[in-house]
Amino acid sequence: MRRVSVSTPASTANLGAGFDCLALALNLRNVVELWDAGRGGGLEIDVEGEGEGRVPLTPGNLIYRAAERVFERVGRRPAGLLRLHSVNAIPLGSGLGSSAASIVGGLVAANALVDGGLGRDDLLRLAYEMEGHPDNAAAALLGGLALVSAAGDELMVRAVAAAPLRVAIALPELRLSTAQARAALPELVPLKDAVFNLGHALFTVQSLAAGDEALLRWAVADRLHQPYRQHLIPGYAEVVAAARKAGAAAVALSGAGPSIVAFAFQKHGEIAQAMQAAFQAHGLAARTFVLPVDRQGVTVSVTER
Ligand code: HSE
Repeated sequence: MRRVSVSTPASTANLGAGFDCLALALNLRNVVELWDAGRGGGLEIDVEGEGEGRVPLTPGNLIYRAAERVFERVGRRPAGLLRLHSVNAIPLGSGLGSSAASIVGGLVAANALVDGGLGRDDLLRLAYEMEGHPDNAAAALLGGLALVSAAGDELMVRAVAAAPLRVAIALPELRLSTAQARAALPELVPLKDAVFNLGHALFTVQSLAAGDEALLRWAVADRLHQPYRQHLIPGYAEVVAAARKAGAAAVALSGAGPSIVAFAFQKHGEIAQAMQAAFQAHGLAARTFVLPVDRQGVTVSVTER
């Protein structure tokens, strides 16, 4: 019997200016185990950790849906009872790439289970189709600082080794779906705002690759999404200001939010506490995380018994 175990990192997308094009993998991991338990057909799912009691244990489960995509694509599926066990460390609906980690985990696990032969680009395309934006999935697959461009049928992805940086994150107790946060965005943006973001995104990549704190401080600015989204998060401006005051080099909305990410070279604990206190002042409890950049991306191990 073959049993596969896949470990997938969290990620913070956009990094200010790189809307839908940049994401950084973070060392907080979900694990998916998938195996064919024989004894006829069917599906059995169980979930531990984040999302336990909330994530569906039915065919609607996101990891399972991703696995199904692979089985359909390659025309091969396990014959017996399919067992899926997931252990989640990434909070759901947080802006830390939990859905991308589930999708990538399901795709990679299914591909390994049935020897699907799908390559990285095939898997990313499937993830993009499921999620509607490619950045978190790119970072989850590749690790490090992921650069991705998706337009129509085009999909280009590369990973850049990021400097060994840690980020401080504050996740407020607030329900905000990516769909809601995307619905707040305008259909069209002024050309000067697009040009502003292009320039800042380029220097964000350079500053993260080189660990250039002064450049990062300047580069993490955005006119394409944060101005339209920040009203969805009570205390946003104060949390950003508190993080900067506590020593963060740069602060951004993590993905579509609601978590806020501070890039820093020191004082991570103080920065996280300052952000938590600023949320608290707006009546919101917040969890905090200090996470290193992940350079590995998704990993898979296969055991045969
Ligand atoms: N780029 C996506 C967005 C990331 O901002 O909507 C979502 O995590």
